[in-house]
Amino acid sequence: MDENHTDALITDFSDARFQAAFRQYFTELGLAVRDWDGLWREMNGEGGNAAFLRTGPAGETVGFIQFRPIRFTSWFFEETCAFIREFWVTPEARGRGHGASLLALAEAHALQNGMHTAILTTDTAAGFYIRHGYVRAPACRAKNGDDVYVKRLG
Ligand SMILES: CC(C)(COP(=O)(O)OP(=O)(O)OC[C@H]1O[C@@H](n2cnc3c(N)ncnc32)[C@H](O)[C@@H]1OP(=O)(O)O)[C@@H](O)C(=O)NCCC(=O)NCCS
Repeated sequence: MDENHTDALITDFSDARFQAAFRQYFTELGLAVRDWDGLWREMNGEGGNAAFLRTGPAGETVGFIQFRPIRFTSWFFEETCAFIREFWVTPEARGRGHGASLLALAEAHALQNGMHTAILTTDTAAGFYIRHGYVRAPACRAKNGDDVYVKRLG
């Protein structure tokens, strides 16, 4: 991976660079969005959403990882975990370590903010996450029906 890139912590999703990257990601997934402005508003309105956006030397998008705190509670236990929500590296930049390093950035940020567990769902990249220390949580069900993976961060 070349080191000539910039990582920006995004907490306001009206950021034009983030929006451009996110649109590329949805285009690759073949997902159409009718109300983009509504989606950015939702990201801001939920509270706690954050992302690292990586750009290259000419300002071109390399990828991003978006995450937020998510609180699990019961009558006895509670824990706030880091929910990795969206994660994407442009097809041209893949396979050069950007994915691993963006994931590490998000995990370190979570740990610094008191979250010791990362949680996510995937139906596309299970092998990638397993390689990075995630394990499937077979008894944990997610709204989207995808498999759930967790990692102890420290
Ligand atoms: C998953 C993703 C972010 C990885 O980014 P990346 O920059 O290529 O990651 P790295 O360069 O750090 O790692 C690449 C390695 O992971 C492996 N890998 C990448 N995607 C994988 C996948 N879906 N399943 C299993 N392994 C995968 C590659 O084969 C490569 O292995 P190698 O080092 O042995 O060649 C990127 O492939 C991507 O954006 N995919 C499409 C969107 C997606 O699936 N996001 C995750 C949603 S939960």
